Amino acid sequence: MTEIEQQLLRVYDADYARSYDERFIANAHYRVKTEFETETLRRLLATCRPWLDVACGTGWFLSRFPDVPRTGLDLSPAMLEIARRANPHDAELRQGSFLDPIPEWSGRYGLVSCMWYSYGYASSIGALRSLVANLACWTADDGACFVPICDPENLGRGIRVPFRRRMSGYPPAPLFITSVTWTWDEGDGRLHPDMVAPPVEAMVALFDEHFREVEVVRYPAFHWWTRRCRKALIARGKRRA
Ligand SMILES: C[S@@+](CC[C@H](N)C(=O)[O-])C[C@H]1O[C@@H](n2cnc3c(N)ncnc32)[C@H](O)[C@@H]1O
Repeated sequence: MTEIEQQLLRVYDADYARSYDERFIANAHYRVKTEFETETLRRLLATCRPWLDVACGTGWFLSRFPDVPRTGLDLSPAMLEIARRANPHDAELRQGSFLDPIPEWSGRYGLVSCMWYSYGYASSIGALRSLVANLACWTADDGACFVPICDPENLGRGIRVPFRRRMSGYPPAPLFITSVTWTWDEGDGRLHPDMVAPPVEAMVALFDEHFREVEVVRYPAFHWWTRRCRKALIARGKRRA
């Protein structure tokens, strides 16, 4: 297991897993986000099945759709333990890293999701590229991928990171800012270090390598005073490998 994975398991332990839904899903602060994602999943699942939720965590979203054939993948045994209790009967729940290939899942899922900025744990753009390749590989040819995006402008007030800049220097060549990294220190010894957050245009470019259509959907405003809405990607029409 890599150092990054060991660090992740120290954060996502049994205590964290027990309080996760209350803090990050059911909490009033995240009501708009949770409702929008649940409704978007409902809309996609009407035609795109079966469903694979990558980095499924406690399986809260999976548990909203008991009639859908569904699979969850997560690295943390503690999070999966809660997911098993939330999805007691029919969901397939598997422990493993989203960076590893799983050849038997190739083209198997009508919908593949990866939510709550989990892709940031890839920790480098090279690793994120492998994760996106896995998401695309596991999606059926006529399926869809749903990935809420951690655009830098949603991390903090006023952070605006352009993806492509025309350089005025020499030689005159375009410059691409492919990511910022961020660390979240929860203050109780739990640290989420060096999470990657490519600007939304960079995320679109990563998915565009695998899908013909990459749509950016915007959430309703999180608070009435902000216009920095959260965003998500919906990718469809898998390109031939
Ligand atoms: C912020 S939680 C999101 C959980 C869930 N998707 C949600 O929307 O509530 C991040 C999850 O990503 C998982 N994770 C992080 N790195 C992973 C990896 N390399 N492979 C699989 N899961 C990973 C963690 O264990 C954790 O459950």
